[in-house]
Amino acid sequence: MFRQLTVIGLGKMGCSLALYYAKSGIKIVGLDVNQTTVDNLNNGVSHLTLPDSDKVLREVLDNKTFEATVDAEYAISTADAIIVIVPLVVDDKYNIDYSIIDSVAVNIGKYIKKGTLVAFETSLPTGTTRNRLKKIILDNSSLGKKDFFVGFSPERVSTNTVFRDLEIYPKIIGGVDSESNKKMEELYTQILPKSKIINLQNSDAAEFTKLMGMIYRDVNIALSNEFAKFAEKAGLDIDEIIQACNTNPFAHVLSPGIGAGGHCLPVYPHFFIKNSKDLGLDPRIAEEARKINNSMPKFSIKKLNSFEELKNKKVLILGLGYREDIKETFLSPTLDLIKELKQFDSTVYIDDYLFSSEEISKYGAVKYDIFSQDEDFDAVIISTYHSKYSNFDFTKLKTKIILDGRNKLDKKLIESSGIKYLGIGK
Ligand SMILES: NC(=O)c1ccc[n+]([C@@H]2O[C@H](COP(=O)([O-])OP(=O)(O)OC[C@H]3O[C@@H](n4cnc5c(N)ncnc54)[C@H](O)[C@@H]3O)[C@@H](O)[C@H]2O)c1
Repeated sequence: MFRQLTVIGLGKMGCSLALYYAKSGIKIVGLDVNQTTVDNLNNGVSHLTLPDSDKVLREVLDNKTFEATVDAEYAISTADAIIVIVPLVVDDKYNIDYSIIDSVAVNIGKYIKKGTLVAFETSLPTGTTRNRLKKIILDNSSLGKKDFFVGFSPERVSTNTVFRDLEIYPKIIGGVDSESNKKMEELYTQILPKSKIINLQNSDAAEFTKLMGMIYRDVNIALSNEFAKFAEKAGLDIDEIIQACNTNPFAHVLSPGIGAGGHCLPVYPHFFIKNSKDLGLDPRIAEEARKINNSMPKFSIKKLNSFEELKNKKVLILGLGYREDIKETFLSPTLDLIKELKQFDSTVYIDDYLFSSEEISKYGAVKYDIFSQDEDFDAVIISTYHSKYSNFDFTKLKTKIILDGRNKLDKKLIESSGIKYLGIGK
């Protein structure tokens, strides 16, 4: 039985996990280097956009099952188990900067007590837990290699649905040795009593599971984008065809789109590509999928420009974050759309309820609110389809043309109001 679990990294993911696990009664200590995050959490103020997170935070503070700290010695030395969920940073050539996770492993080595389990959850290249992180802990510890346990479990839940996903997604786990496999199973059975635990008995396999899932999705979307380009030239409607095709139980074609942002699709496939090349392989499908999906913002602007000359025009983009209802711009397709539009000297407006005017102006755009303003635009582009757009009447927009980058709108309805409609593959 684990009495205290320390979660290292209280970001969007780590903080959500810490709150969920604290609700189940186990004592959680959250460790972060950001003093403001820690102070806010201890004062009942969370940075999450996850529904119910404020309520759960108040609950777990009242029950004293959660506390946040910047004190690494305290958080690590008192833990029976540790979950590490800090980011792995990549440069623009996708070279990995391990400095954050390495420094966490150094601290764990310094302060870990005998018998503690360390479970890494940050998405990692295959072999990192076993060959890199366990070694760093060992090199910095006075303990022997059998005195502590190390494993990996991919975190496959999504930012705004963590509490729900944790209860329905099977939890994949794997240790670096047989004792660690057992400890991993004990920990996750205790903290996720409703979940199916899949013990792959190997941390490398658990790491690869996450990358495989992301690459499968990326390749599927790239294929769908190729289908969309064909459908467009052939005068066909891609959505109707995908729906019909997917009635076959072996077909699972995803929707095409204006681009994929964040870490899961744009970054993690590069871990696999590098792992493969290190082994002398040539992972062509994963590489090609990346190129196709990265080209979609440019492709879409070119298409828009062929219907509505964009030079010196006024263009509104819906959505700045890379996914609906999240405040995160990392590799968001909207950033590429802005870059492309600037080449035409267009003036760019952005509607995104999660970002202030100052935040939007940093990207060279002007904040706009489609629910309360009524300006004329030359073109409107849907980049991210926030949930509140389902309550918006797009026929009321004053624009000549809409490029629906998520294929969400009804073409006939839009065109009945005199607005030209373009989708991806339609
Ligand atoms: N965000 C997602 O949707 C998602 C989904 C599944 C898995 N993940 C995994 O979670 C990891 C973290 O993602 P996130 O979205 O929570 O990141 P984030 O950027 O929101 O948060 C990272 C947190 O780590 C903290 N941190 C940085 N260095 C630290 C250190 N040395 N010690 C302690 N804390 C430190 C930061 O202060 C910050 O609070 C990702 O790398 C990814 O592998 C994320």
